[in-house]
Amino acid sequence: MQLAQIKALVNTSPAFILDADSILSQLQLFKQLQQQANFKLLFAIKALPLDAILKLVAPHVQGFAVSSLFEAQLVHETTTSNNIHLTTPGIRAAEIATLARLCSHINFNSQNQYQRFAAQIKSATLGMRLNPKLSFLHDQRFNPCGLHSKLGVDIAELSLPMQNIQGLHFHTVFSATDFQALIQTLKKLQSHFGTAFKDLAWLNLGGGYLFNQITEFQSFITCIQALNANQATEIFIEPGKAIVNDAGYLLTTVIDILPSDGKNIAILDTSVNHHPEVFEYQRAPKLCEANSKGKYQVILAGSTCLAGDVFGEYSLEQELKIGDKLVFKQLGAYSLIKANRFNGYNLPDIYWHQAGNIRRIKQYQYCDYQQQWSSEC
Ligand SMILES: Cc1ncc(COP(=O)(O)O)c(C=O)c1O
Repeated sequence: MQLAQIKALVNTSPAFILDADSILSQLQLFKQLQQQANFKLLFAIKALPLDAILKLVAPHVQGFAVSSLFEAQLVHETTTSNNIHLTTPGIRAAEIATLARLCSHINFNSQNQYQRFAAQIKSATLGMRLNPKLSFLHDQRFNPCGLHSKLGVDIAELSLPMQNIQGLHFHTVFSATDFQALIQTLKKLQSHFGTAFKDLAWLNLGGGYLFNQITEFQSFITCIQALNANQATEIFIEPGKAIVNDAGYLLTTVIDILPSDGKNIAILDTSVNHHPEVFEYQRAPKLCEANSKGKYQVILAGSTCLAGDVFGEYSLEQELKIGDKLVFKQLGAYSLIKANRFNGYNLPDIYWHQAGNIRRIKQYQYCDYQQQWSSEC
């Protein structure tokens, strides 16, 4: 999608633009991989559960990965998919009957969850989330296998076969740009479980790999082909970010410019609350207009009262002025779903781009804010 096109056709600000063509081309890549190795693709809806995306993605995936009752319900109501895979440390006793009805696959996060709930589930196939105890990340905020991890059963504590358990699930990485973690994890599982590993009906390799940024796929294909050859197992992967991240743009307008200790600060009509991972992980999002050779340095800041509501410092070719529009890119995943109206600033409008057309599909008003904070049921 072209920057000029966004600026010409999107006439409200701030606006979140979703490029359906980008999602379809990403799904095409998975289709090509599926021609070389036998695996099933699930979309992890936690990255962006917009109904238009679920409908767009549904014909191209073999199911959906969900983390809660609401996510399962949304997939069930929005698509015709009967393949809904649940993985969460948060199963509530009061919800298990409905989850069991909606989900085709349920992965327990602990032996305790398994003991409490397995007997109540009649039709779903059951699995265990495994913590293979191989850590690939230094930052513990998003390391699923760090010390004292709450995610999954320690591999040393799980013995196969387990009564009622047909599958295993693991998810061990965050935004990985190669498949080294997958190779090492499968190797460990194979040597740990030995022949029992072959008796599983299915194996879910999780998400966390940036298939949209990776260029070397042979190692992934080799891993899957080896699993195909050695087991009767069905293989699932459940990416979220890889499918939707490149499709998301945030258009914003400069509403003020001020000097501060020798630097230029541009205040935008958006804030990090429209993409909270900027603050959570202290990572500046990519800006379409940024040019490392540009002579004009500016700190782009959000318009809330939080001092740390700052996107980052960028180099631009031209000095900014009030009313200029800027576009952040590659923020389709984990942005809108985490967005909030802190300070009473509205959420961005949502636009949909497909086959050369852009249209607005969502606009929030004051009444949505008022309703959220109304204490009347
Ligand atoms: C269990 C599980 N599966 C899949 C995903 C999707 O990961 P990503 O969007 O990084 O591909 C996540 C992300 O947190 C996850 O926790």
